[in-house]
Amino acid sequence: MADATTATLKINDSEYELPVLRPTEGPDVLDIRKLYGQADVFTYDPGFTSTASCDSTITFIDGDKGELWYRGYPIEQLAAKSHYLEVCYLLLYGNLPNAEQMEDFERRVTRHTMVHEQMHNFFRGFRRDAHPMATMVAVVGAMSAFYHDSTDINDPWQREVASIRLIAKVPTIAAMAYKYSIGQPFVYPQNELDYASNFLHMCFSVPAEKYVVDPALARAMDRIFTLHADHEQNASTSTVRLAGSSGANPFACIAAGIACLWGPAHGGANQAALEMLREIGTVDRIPEYIAKAKDKSDPFKLMGFGHRVYKNFDPRAKVMKESADEVLDLLGIHNNPTLQVAKELEKIALEDEYFVEKKLYPNVDFYSGIILEAMGFPTSMFTPIFALSRTVGWIAQWKEMIADPQAKIGRPRQLYVGEGKRDYIDVAAR
Ligand code: SDX
Repeated sequence: MADATTATLKINDSEYELPVLRPTEGPDVLDIRKLYGQADVFTYDPGFTSTASCDSTITFIDGDKGELWYRGYPIEQLAAKSHYLEVCYLLLYGNLPNAEQMEDFERRVTRHTMVHEQMHNFFRGFRRDAHPMATMVAVVGAMSAFYHDSTDINDPWQREVASIRLIAKVPTIAAMAYKYSIGQPFVYPQNELDYASNFLHMCFSVPAEKYVVDPALARAMDRIFTLHADHEQNASTSTVRLAGSSGANPFACIAAGIACLWGPAHGGANQAALEMLREIGTVDRIPEYIAKAKDKSDPFKLMGFGHRVYKNFDPRAKVMKESADEVLDLLGIHNNPTLQVAKELEKIALEDEYFVEKKLYPNVDFYSGIILEAMGFPTSMFTPIFALSRTVGWIAQWKEMIADPQAKIGRPRQLYVGEGKRDYIDVAAR
């Protein structure tokens, strides 16, 4: 990016010229890299609401316009016209593949979908009621104990192999976590199935009878994967980048991303949102929960609502809402009470001055749980599916960071507000 202009910062009697960097799209960026060295001051931005942690070519979000682009392509077009593995190729390599490139990529991913047979033992150490996110964090992290030939981050070929292994194996591990939690045998991937169909097969087929994947459900599953694939420098992606900046191996970095995503303020919101909608239960109880959400003394928040960046609407939520109608109709589920509560809650909230003033709208997590529940997934599998989908985004961002010649270990500073220096006092004198 070109330096646009410079900004002048005046501190006491001194002035400092700071470069202003101009992006392809979005706000100009004040380059403060030399500020501490020049002015002996830190900047202060808990939660990084005004801080660009890196430069990136992967995903662009405009929170005011409600725009989300993967490598420049609007999410609405990709959700309608592309498919998840093609989106994986786009996020990883920067452009849409031609037919030959797509076939080669799909073949490479398909032939890595099985996990080392010894990894099955990891699951046996967990209680059956362990949350699948706990098993996913553990087993994805344990991949670094099995795939030593793809942990050297300085070898571009090993980085590529680790990337393909993660995209291929995380769905298998997620499905295994689900099967383990319900006491059913693990189901091996089937290479003749497409990515989404394979995941549904590994989750829902049983040895006792034939399972045929419904292509329309597979399409809906694939679209959910695409909608969640990447999202700029969100909390879990920033976690992956920070872990990767120390030189940690890719499997450890992705495990760190899964751990961060689990939080209810982030990827865990899809489970929390559906549980909230179930707790509300009926449309007549919505005002009671709206009041709770507005009550500063009540920690309750409307799960699936609000976003750090989107201040008008989350474009993914719009696609997800349409998909919810389609999937429920496909499954012959009419008058679904949870969907009715969700739509009425959205309508009431968007007419309430609190939500309008604070610019709170449904986010990607508000409707996704309704679709996943209708497809047969328990709420505990909602965030593992988010993690599965986001694995490619984490990897693309991690690869971009590793390949950046300016990359260095992330090490924020602080505003110290603790005790001043003081001498030790013997216990007898305290
Ligand atoms: C994801 O970053 C990403 O891109 C994330 C994600 C991705 O794809 O990676 O998009 C995925 O994480 C989506 C968000 C899922 N989380 C939820 O749905 C949980 C509910 N939402 C909130 O926790 C909250 O909205 C956040 C965490 C999403 C955003 O929080 P911010 O940007 O820090 O905003 P905030 O908490 O400062 O809220 C601003 C105001 C506050 O009121 P005041 O202190 O100004 O009086 O709005 C209020 C908040 O109390 N508020 C809500 C609310 N969300 C914010 N009030 C009621 N219900 C809510 N959901």
